Amino acid sequence: MDSNLLNPTPIPAMPRIGDNAPVFEAETTQGHINFPADYAGKWVILFSHPADFTPVCTTEFMTFATMEQEFQNLNCQLVGLSIDSIYSHIAWLRTIKEKIAFRDMKNVEVTFPLIDDIRMEVAMKYGMIQPNESNTKAVRAVFFIDPVGKIRAIIYYPLSTGRNFEELKRVLIALQTADAFGVATPADWKPGDDVIVPPAGSCGVAKERMQGKDEQVYCVDWFFCMKPLEKEKIDTLFVRKNEIVLN
Ligand code: BEZ
Repeated sequence: MDSNLLNPTPIPAMPRIGDNAPVFEAETTQGHINFPADYAGKWVILFSHPADFTPVCTTEFMTFATMEQEFQNLNCQLVGLSIDSIYSHIAWLRTIKEKIAFRDMKNVEVTFPLIDDIRMEVAMKYGMIQPNESNTKAVRAVFFIDPVGKIRAIIYYPLSTGRNFEELKRVLIALQTADAFGVATPADWKPGDDVIVPPAGSCGVAKERMQGKDEQVYCVDWFFCMKPLEKEKIDTLFVRKNEIVLN
């Protein structure tokens, strides 16, 4: 009998949407972190990559680092991880800065923390090791963690596929918009597009609509109502948040 059937590789726990982000301490390229406590009050994108000194990961880091300010403007910090040592991380990030050009990016400095997880402790806690893809490399996992430390969205990509960072930004804004305005966002939504409002049966919503308080709402069917939500309103939300952070 196949010995794998008797002793299958244990399947690591997978945190789920709605769970509290698993707690850990780690060394990073920017010093020691207590996660998620150090990020209280901020959104975090915690993401893993398969290995330092690999080409797809290099293009991803250059892209994420170039967009870091855009994520910070959305009150979001980036934290990377791979099953490599801090010495490997430092050498790889230095190589990226000193030698690598990709598209219109060069001299790119990665200033967000990159976790040393050579013992795979964090990767195992977060279900980043998916043994049928690789036993020794993390998949490309992306965890969106909100300001109270709850996991709000998870996206996984295989080793061969580089992520779309505009999509990661879109998901972050959609989550923040849902929280701030009590709406949902339809397929392919982007800021400025109409949003989906809760069904009239929801608490208090029918009454408000009957009283004509939400005049902009229009219904496609009884279960499917939408309203405009101007991009400026969403932008203002983040500007106000950043003012509070800066003052
Ligand atoms: C890469 O980032 O290029 C890569 C990493 C692991 C497997 C395949 C590709």
